[in-house]
Amino acid sequence: MRIDWFMIPQALWLFLPAYVANMAPVFAMRLFPNWNRRLDGGRVWKDGRPLLGAGKTWRGLWAGCLAATATAYAQSFIRFSDVDFSDFGHELAGGAIGPLAIGFALGFGAIIGDAVKSFFKRRTGRLGGAPWVPFDQLDFVVGGLLFAYLGALILQLLPRGPPNWWASEFGGAQWPKLVVLLVLTPLLHLVVNVVGYKLRLKKVPW
Ligand code: CTP
Ligand code: MG
Repeated sequence: MRIDWFMIPQALWLFLPAYVANMAPVFAMRLFPNWNRRLDGGRVWKDGRPLLGAGKTWRGLWAGCLAATATAYAQSFIRFSDVDFSDFGHELAGGAIGPLAIGFALGFGAIIGDAVKSFFKRRTGRLGGAPWVPFDQLDFVVGGLLFAYLGALILQLLPRGPPNWWASEFGGAQWPKLVVLLVLTPLLHLVVNVVGYKLRLKKVPW
């Protein structure tokens, strides 16, 4: 089997909105420290522990969705000449709707994936901010891919719809890109978090 190494930068480019979404809540926390209404509304589960915890806020959800949508929209204007860098092209849905919708879905999914992880993390008794490898690293990958899949399906309902974005970027022979994301993301996550910690953006290096 021939390995197509080009799938590595392709996969990272396609998933860039979700990476940005995953980092956005930390910056939003710095910018708007007082806007910290929790996603779980302060509710407690049967086990007496927080449903999600203080680290999952509406601010983070909005920041992730906005950042990812803007990223995909910006990416839709970037063309790589003579290589098909299968992308967020405007032709995706005959206009800006495609990149905006896929970007939003990647960001929303990334943050929801992170919050679902926190639900199970609290059930295991881990406090907010405690490490939980590899779930802290992969929660947003699973969420982002899942919601982008749903977003691509919904886009198919548009008249004169383009080919399904998810299917053409990750389906069929493109499946190794999924492996690229699952393998490289924890490594990238580690590097980014150590840098964020050194820059004092994050309280803990994970
Ligand atoms: N954050 C937020 N809203 C979100 C996600 C994150 O405000 N939906 C902010 C919080 O200030 C959080 C920080 O980003 O503390 C880091 O995010 P993350 O590591 O995902 O949260 P933790 O505090 O580690 O909580 P958990 O243990 O549940 O992952
Ligand atoms: Mg954490």
